[in-house]
Amino acid sequence: MKALILSGGKGTRLRPLTYTTAKQLLPVANKPILFFVADQIVQAGIREIGVIISPETGESIRAALGDGQRWGASIRYILQDRPGGLAHAVKTAQPFLGEDPFLMFLGDNLIQGGVSDLVQDFVEARAGGGSAAPDAAILLKPVPDPRQFGVAVLDSASGRVERLVEKPKDPPSNLALVGVYLFSPRIHQAIARIQPSWRGELEITDAIQELLDMGARVDARVLAGWWLDTGKKDDILEANRVVLDEYCRQSIQGEVDAESHIVGRVEVAAGARIIRSTVRGPAVIGAGAVVEDCFVGPFSAIGAGTHLCHLSLEHSVVLEDCMLSGVGRIEDSLIGRNVRVTRADDGRQALRLFLGDDSQLAV
Ligand code: DAU
Repeated sequence: MKALILSGGKGTRLRPLTYTTAKQLLPVANKPILFFVADQIVQAGIREIGVIISPETGESIRAALGDGQRWGASIRYILQDRPGGLAHAVKTAQPFLGEDPFLMFLGDNLIQGGVSDLVQDFVEARAGGGSAAPDAAILLKPVPDPRQFGVAVLDSASGRVERLVEKPKDPPSNLALVGVYLFSPRIHQAIARIQPSWRGELEITDAIQELLDMGARVDARVLAGWWLDTGKKDDILEANRVVLDEYCRQSIQGEVDAESHIVGRVEVAAGARIIRSTVRGPAVIGAGAVVEDCFVGPFSAIGAGTHLCHLSLEHSVVLEDCMLSGVGRIEDSLIGRNVRVTRADDGRQALRLFLGDDSQLAV
């Protein structure tokens, strides 16, 4: 069994951060989303991983994941020349995938509990061989607004997948396709038979529907735990909240002075300094960060080397090497690398801004 991680695409909904970073590398709880994906693939026992990359952000993905040694896996990079859709990505990866079954994992999806059970069930169901063996397995999750996802209809008696539709205007069910799929090599035949959708992409949802039309068996499992698709700013904040809530433990490696208070589950990385401040967990403070005369509230992740001074911050993600000082209260914010937000001390009320394209500021 191989794995294919999809880390191409343009990430337009996360601009301006995605002008300089791949969306799959944005951190939640100070760890790139893609690292959670790699962890779960390896936990499922898969060691041969292909990673789809785009010309725009491929190099940063390659620099972050490397050759896979960190995970005891081997990683191959596969350049997709344009974001032609998820099925186009599989087509591009066909020389790597060969005739092997594979796990496909969207590089911006986070799921609770990993994928070991899904992989094991698929392997076992295929072990018998013959025409009864499944050619795909999908993971589903009920969502309040299915229109932005692929949606599945299950047969009420057998629980088998009956029909799939990508981003329906009028959803036939509330079961969204989670970005984790298992395929036999038969998926390549199905992809060869589909046409681009209205948005010009070769949709994996259409390819799975094609498998059904070819008479193949497609298994489905409804995910019990949480699933986070981190495509937009609020999704990243929600992912940060959920992941901190689940994984954050109290661990103080840096310095906390006598006038500071650490309350609850807070990780203070080596070289970080907390000075005359209160940090209330769950929260993570990255290596070498400085928090001075601040209140840092729950569900905050402060990147390495960032300096916070004279402010209150909560439910926010601040990336590396920022300087935020004297600006009152910050909440529900996602702040990229090297950002400076400071108060001028000349008493003027005017905002003086130097913001990149597609920045958003709510004052
Ligand atoms: O997140 C689950 C949803 O993912 C499913 O419910 C949908 O059925 C499926 O089509 C997909 O929808 P999205 O519109 O959210 O996909 P997105 O364009 O965000 O791409 C998902 C990941 O795949 C992302 O990490 C970028 C990568 N990608 C995307 C495209 C279009 C590629 O590597 N190559 C591509 O050509």
